[in-house]
Amino acid sequence: MPAGSGGDGTITVIDPNGAPLRGAPSLVAGGVFAGTLTNRNLGSQHGLSAGALATALVTKSPDPGTNGRAVFLAALADGSVAQVHVQSGVDDLAPPGSFTPVPDITPARAESDDPAVVTRVGMLFNWVPTRTVFVSDPLGDRILAFDLADDGHVFVETHVRYLGSPALHEPVDLAPAAREVAARNFASNTTLGGGSDFYVLNRGNNSVVRMTQDGDVVAVRQVAAAPQSDLALSGIRLNGIAVSEDAKTIWMTATAPDRQGVVLRMPAFGAGPVTTDLFNQARGNLPTEQGEDVFSHEMATTEAVGPLFNEQSCSGCHNTPGAGGMGSDAQTFVTRVARIQHDVFDPLTGHGGPIARMHSIVELGSACGMPTGVPPQANATSVRSAMTLRGSALIDDILASHILAAAADPSVPAEMRGHVNFLPDGRVGRFGWKAQTATLVEFMGEAFRDEIGVTNPMAAHDLVDGCGASIRKPEMDAAPLTALVAFLNTIDPPAPVAACLASTGATVFASAGCANCHKPSYTVPGSNSVLTARLYSDLLLHDMGPGLADGFQQGSASGAEFRTAPLWRVSDRVHFLHDGRATSIVDAILLHGGQASVAVAAFNALTPAERQALLAFLNCI
Ligand code: HEC
Ligand code: HEC
Repeated sequence: MPAGSGGDGTITVIDPNGAPLRGAPSLVAGGVFAGTLTNRNLGSQHGLSAGALATALVTKSPDPGTNGRAVFLAALADGSVAQVHVQSGVDDLAPPGSFTPVPDITPARAESDDPAVVTRVGMLFNWVPTRTVFVSDPLGDRILAFDLADDGHVFVETHVRYLGSPALHEPVDLAPAAREVAARNFASNTTLGGGSDFYVLNRGNNSVVRMTQDGDVVAVRQVAAAPQSDLALSGIRLNGIAVSEDAKTIWMTATAPDRQGVVLRMPAFGAGPVTTDLFNQARGNLPTEQGEDVFSHEMATTEAVGPLFNEQSCSGCHNTPGAGGMGSDAQTFVTRVARIQHDVFDPLTGHGGPIARMHSIVELGSACGMPTGVPPQANATSVRSAMTLRGSALIDDILASHILAAAADPSVPAEMRGHVNFLPDGRVGRFGWKAQTATLVEFMGEAFRDEIGVTNPMAAHDLVDGCGASIRKPEMDAAPLTALVAFLNTIDPPAPVAACLASTGATVFASAGCANCHKPSYTVPGSNSVLTARLYSDLLLHDMGPGLADGFQQGSASGAEFRTAPLWRVSDRVHFLHDGRATSIVDAILLHGGQASVAVAAFNALTPAERQALLAFLNCI
C-alpha cells in the first residue's frame, strides 16, 4: 500500500497459467501483474480505490467463459470488499463501511506495538456447503460474515451478518483451524476446510480465540512466552496469524518495543479428542498420509463411533482391490429406507432413516437399547453397493458449468439425454448412485455420520437421539475430512493408453450409443494445466426403466433414474449396478433399460468380433 490507506491499493496476481489479465494486457510482464486493476463495473465509481488490507482466494469464477479462472477478494481500508477476477477485472462486492474503516496507515504505524493502533484486517473464505466470507473488524470488535451468490458472471453478497463475542478484542487477523489442503485447483491459506472453525487473533489483549462459523467460541488461549524462553516478550503486540498445512501448529507475527518483528509458534488447540486421537495415531504428517490412516482407522467407542453404525472404518466397505476401492462382501452394501404413502416420499430421517444401521455400540460393550436394522415404519428399501472411490476426487474438480453444458449437448439424441440432479439448494449433484451430493467432502462427512456415527462439520447433527449420540457437537472437526480428500487425490485411476483409446472397441462404444451417457471425458482445470478426466460418465441422471427402478427420490432424481456409472477401471470391479445385481460387465449392459434400451438393442446386434472389441475396450479404460 505505497500510497497509504487513502491511495490506490496494490495487488499482485500471479496467474498459475501465466495468462494475462484481460483489460490491462500491456501492464503484464511474465504473468505477473502489479498495479491498479481496471474497474470492470462501469456503473461503480469504486473499484480498488482504497488500500488493500487483506486478500482471500474464492474458488473459481462463476463465469463459464473464464473456464474456471480464479477470483479473489480484497478487503479495502474504507471497509469495503472488492472482487478481483483475474480474467476480467474488478467489481464491487461489499460496500464501504461493511467493516469499520481503518484510517491512517503508515509504515511507522504498521510496526507499532501500541495495542490501539490497527493497520490490518484478516479475511477467510469457506467454500462448502455455503460460500461464506469472513472479514475481521478490529475497530468494531466483531467479524463481518456474508454469503456469496452469483449471477453467472460475478459474485453478489447475501445474508450479511456480524459475529460478536466478549472474547473479541481488536481482532486483527483470522486463520483457518483446518486449511483446505486437498481441493487441487483453488485453495489457498485463506480457504477454510469445509465447515472448519477459525482462529481469531486479538491484538487488544494478545489472545487467540477458536470460533465456529456460527460465532460460538470453542476455546481461548492467552499468548505468553514459554518459561524457558530467553525472549523478552514484555510489551509484545500480536499482529498476524497462520496455521500449518497439517493443522497442528499456529504461527503468529508480533511487534515488540526496540526490536524487529518476531514470529511465535504454539500448538493448535480446540480440535476435540476425536481429531486429536486420529491424528496422533496417524503415521505421517502429510495430509495424504493422515488421510490414508483416517480412512482405514477402526473408530472405537472412545472415538465417538455410533451409537448406531454399519462399520467402524471407511475401508470396512471401500476395500477392493485396496483402500479406496469398492465393497465386495454382503456387509458392504447399505440399505436406504423410506416410507412411501399416497405418493409422499419420507426418508424417515430421525426415525431410523435414511439408511438402516446394522450395528449398535452394545456390541462394543456400551449400554444402549436403540434398535438396529430397517425401522418398522419403512415400507420401501433400496440396496446400494459401495462403489469404488478411485477417481471420485477428479470428479470433484469438474466444473459445474461443464456438467450443465453436457445436459444440453445437441450431439446426444434427445431420447437419451440426461438431466442434472439439482439439489434443493440449487447446486449440481454429482456423487452417489443418484448424483445426490454436490461435493466429495460433504459425501465423506455424511458417510462419517451415517455409516460410522461420527458427526463432523459437514454433518453436524446425529440422525438418532440418546445413547450418547453427539454429546459434543460435532464430534470431529474439519481436519480429518480434508485429509481424506487429500488421500483420495492419490488414488485416481491411470489414464488409458493411446492404443486403447484408438481401438476398434472405442468406435463400437460410440456407435452402439454407450458414449451418449458414458461421456468419455471431462476437462478439469488443474492448478497448473488443464487435465482430462476419462471417467466415461456424463454425471447426469437417466431413466433406466422399471427393471432397475428402486422408487427412491433423491434431489431431483426420480425412482427410476440413476447417475451414469463412471466406467474407468471397470474391469477391476467385482459386481456392477447400484445394487450389485450384475456379476459381469455383459450382464450389467443387458440389464440397462429405459433411455438405454436403444443401446442394449445395438449391443445385441453386434457381430461377435465387434462385441469382443467392445469388451476389450472396457477392459483397458
Ligand atoms: C457400510 C459401508 C460403507 C462405509 C463404512 C462407507 N461407505 Fe462410502 N459408500 C457406501 C455406499 C453404499 C455408497 C453408495 C451410496 C449411494 O449412493 O446410495 C458409498 C459411496 C461413497 C462415496 C461416493 C463416491 C462417488 O464417486 O459417487 C464416497 C465419496 C464415499 N462413499 C466415501 C466414504 C468415506 C470417506 C467413508 C468413511 C468415512 C465411507 N464412504 C464409509 C458404503 C460405505
Ligand atoms: C441412457 C444412458 C446409458 C446408456 C446409453 C448406456 N448406459 Fe451404461 N449405465 C447407465 C447408468 C445410469 C448406469 C447405472 C445404473 C445402475 O446402477 O442401476 C450404467 C451402468 C453401466 C455399467 C455398470 C457399471 C458399474 O460399475 O456398476 C456398465 C458396465 C455400463 N453401464 C456399460 C454400458 C455400455 C457398454 C453401454 C453401451 C452398450 C451402456 N452402458 C449404455 C447409463 C447408460
